[in-house]
Amino acid sequence: MAQQFTVTERPDRLAEAERLAVLADPGFGKTFTDHMVVATWNPEEGWHDWQVKPYGPLELDPSAAVLHYAQEIFEGLKAYRHEDGSVWTFRPRSNAARFARSAARLALPALPEEAFLESLKQLVAIDEAWVPGAEAGESSLYLRPFMFASESFLGVRPALGVTYSVIASPAGAYFSGGVKPVSLWISQHYSRAGVGGTGAAKCGGNYAASLAAQIEASEHGCDQSVFLDSVEQKWIEELGGMNLFLVYADGRLVTPALTGSILEGVTRDSILELAKDLDLQPEERRVSIDEWREGVESGQITEAFACGTAAVVTPVGRLVWEGGELAMGPEGTAGPVADKIRSTLLGIQKGQLEDSHDWLFRLV
Ligand code: COI
Repeated sequence: MAQQFTVTERPDRLAEAERLAVLADPGFGKTFTDHMVVATWNPEEGWHDWQVKPYGPLELDPSAAVLHYAQEIFEGLKAYRHEDGSVWTFRPRSNAARFARSAARLALPALPEEAFLESLKQLVAIDEAWVPGAEAGESSLYLRPFMFASESFLGVRPALGVTYSVIASPAGAYFSGGVKPVSLWISQHYSRAGVGGTGAAKCGGNYAASLAAQIEASEHGCDQSVFLDSVEQKWIEELGGMNLFLVYADGRLVTPALTGSILEGVTRDSILELAKDLDLQPEERRVSIDEWREGVESGQITEAFACGTAAVVTPVGRLVWEGGELAMGPEGTAGPVADKIRSTLLGIQKGQLEDSHDWLFRLV
C-alpha cells in the first residue's frame, strides 16, 4: 500500500533571489533545500510516520547506535530538469535495489521499492524550485536517501529503531576544478574493503575508511586515491566514491569486475550498456595496476576515467605512486572516449538524447 505522507510546509522558504544565487553556482553538497523526508521503523509497526517536513536537525539520543557502531547506509541520485520543465531522475529502481542490498548487509530493515520512489517524488515535488533549469549545463538536484540505527542502545545487535530520510542539494561539478582531469594516488598502505566485508554496500563506514588514504593522496598532490585489492595489493578496485574505467586503443573499455568489495555503481553499469551503443567493447575483469602502468607506457591504454552519480564521468590525468608517476594524455584535457560517454550520459539524463534503454523516471 502506498505510504501516506504528512506534509508540513516550511513557512520561511529561502527567498527566491537567494535560491537563484545558490543555483547559479551550487558546488557540491553545500546547500540543502527547504524540506526533507523522514520515516521511522520498528519491528512492531514496520515503516510508519512518513513525513515531509522543513529541513532541519534530526534529534538523536547520544546513545543512538549509529553514532557508535555505524549502522548506516545511503544512496545518491540526481533530478534533472528537461526543456519542457518536467523533472526526471535516472534508474531509481537500481538505487532502490542497491539500497535493499546495502540494508541486508548492514542488518537494517528493507525499504520497499515503491516507498523509496515515492519518497523521492514527494521531496522533489515540494522543492521543485530547487531543481536547476534545463539550460544550467550539468547542474542538477542531488538526492541523498539514507537510513540509520536511531535506537538508543549500546549493545551490539541490529537496531530495533531505525530512521529513513531523504535530503536534497543542488549540485554542479563534484570536483571544485570542474570537469578537468583528476590525479590519482595509488594507495599501498590502505585498503578500502576486504573479502566478505562491506565493500559492495553503500554504507558510511566504507567512506570513513577511505579518508586516511585521501589524506595520503592530498599529501602527494593528488585529488583521489585508487584502492587496490586487500589480499595481493595488485588488482584495481575503485576510488572510494567512484568506479574506474580504462580505454584501450583497440576499442575495449575495461572496468574491474565486481568482486564483492567494489561498489556496484549505477553509472558504471550504465556505461557498460552505453559502450555497446558507442561501438566499444565493454569488459569486466580483473585489471592489475601493472597492466594499467604498462598499457599507458606502450600506448595500448589511451584514457582512464572515474565515474559515479556525483562525478558523472571524470577523466584521470595523472597516476602517482611511491617513487613514480605517469601522465595520461596531454595535461588538462579529457580524452575523446570519456568526453563522448559523458556527453551521451548527460544528454540522456537531461532529455536531449533518446532514452532508448528506458532509464528515465519522471518525478514531477
Ligand atoms: C555518488 O556518486 O552519489 C556518491 O555517493 C559518491 C560520493 C559523493 C559519496
